[in-house]
Amino acid sequence: MASKNAVGLDIGTSSIKVAHVKESSKGVQLLAFDTVMLPPDTIRDGVILNAPLLAQRIAEVFAINKIRQKQVAVSLSGHAVIIKKISLPEMTVAELEDSIQWEAEQYIPFDIKDVHVDFQIIDAQAGQGQMDVLLVAAKKAVIEELCDVVRAAKLEPVLVDVDAFALYNAFELSFPVPQDETIALINAGASTININVVSGGMTSFTRDITVGGNLLTEEISKQFAVPWDEAEHMKTTSETTLSMSGVLREVQRISSRVSEVLVSEIQRSLDFFAATAVSADISAIYLCGGAALQPGLIEGLERRLGTPVRALNPFNNLIVDPKRFDAALLQRMAPIAAVAVGLGLRRQGDR
Ligand SMILES: Nc1ncnc2c1ncn2[C@@H]1O[C@H](COP(=O)(O)OP(=O)(O)OP(=O)(O)O)[C@@H](O)[C@H]1O
Ligand SMILES: [Mg+2]
Repeated sequence: MASKNAVGLDIGTSSIKVAHVKESSKGVQLLAFDTVMLPPDTIRDGVILNAPLLAQRIAEVFAINKIRQKQVAVSLSGHAVIIKKISLPEMTVAELEDSIQWEAEQYIPFDIKDVHVDFQIIDAQAGQGQMDVLLVAAKKAVIEELCDVVRAAKLEPVLVDVDAFALYNAFELSFPVPQDETIALINAGASTININVVSGGMTSFTRDITVGGNLLTEEISKQFAVPWDEAEHMKTTSETTLSMSGVLREVQRISSRVSEVLVSEIQRSLDFFAATAVSADISAIYLCGGAALQPGLIEGLERRLGTPVRALNPFNNLIVDPKRFDAALLQRMAPIAAVAVGLGLRRQGDR
């Protein structure tokens, strides 16, 4: 293997996750995984509001975990990225590289000068002399801002990926990718839900819904007239004091209602996919993200979509040294780890 894996650095709205892996002939070994919480308003609506604090927390998590690898892979999501499946006349990769910027212009609602354009060929021979290409465009200013934070933490950003693709990388490592089925990978975070629909082992649709677990925190904070931190605590705990006072039941009731809202949003996106796709029948949903733990979400998805929901655990196939990691703790962190692990599978120079 040419170069070492970059450290996967997933900068989420509620927490940072880092995953360092080593690929060898034996498999993929986990060297480090950790997360560090971010105060609310460090990042809001995908915008970094407190860059110095963010950089400081990133530097800390690297120091605490003694990660010496400086090269990191980060990712974007939400409004900063546009991913579209487009159809182009068949051409070589070199020709596509030359023309993609120009081809992209008609699909991008921003000035083409302000975006970085990339692509992935989905089907080189889609028929009638056409090829299917996944067009990926990201705002340069957002990429720069993210890279600046990473550099401020004395690290080197070597790769900027997209959450939805990192999710797929993590999935691919952990599960056999079904070649004749369509599945949906869903990462429900604090402020964004990433969806990646994979048909025959290729991404055929992605969508980032800009809503997530924060909606429940807001709702609890409003209903109980408590500050954000307390609402966050109430939703992630099931202590006896809560359950005895009946608060827990009320939290669960609010949660089920909010989960229905998230399920409706997901359903709307998948309906949109189904309306445009050839093989639209989704056989399974692989779900992760912290908001996947919120009562009512899994049940709601299964009921409304009639599709089995499975946990996307990115540690499934990783070699984990029991002397280095607490297995139970790692399993608890598994739902939020997918993007970081997916990023950790990348190397400098990867597309
Ligand atoms: N046990 C739990 N029950 C309900 N919600 C939970 C639980 N654990 C975590 N969450 C919620 O999951 C969310 C955090 O998930 P995650 O770490 O995947 O998001 P993020 O990556 O920080 O955010 P984003 O990707 O949207 O920027 C928070 O809203 C948190 O309250
Ligand atoms: Mg996230």
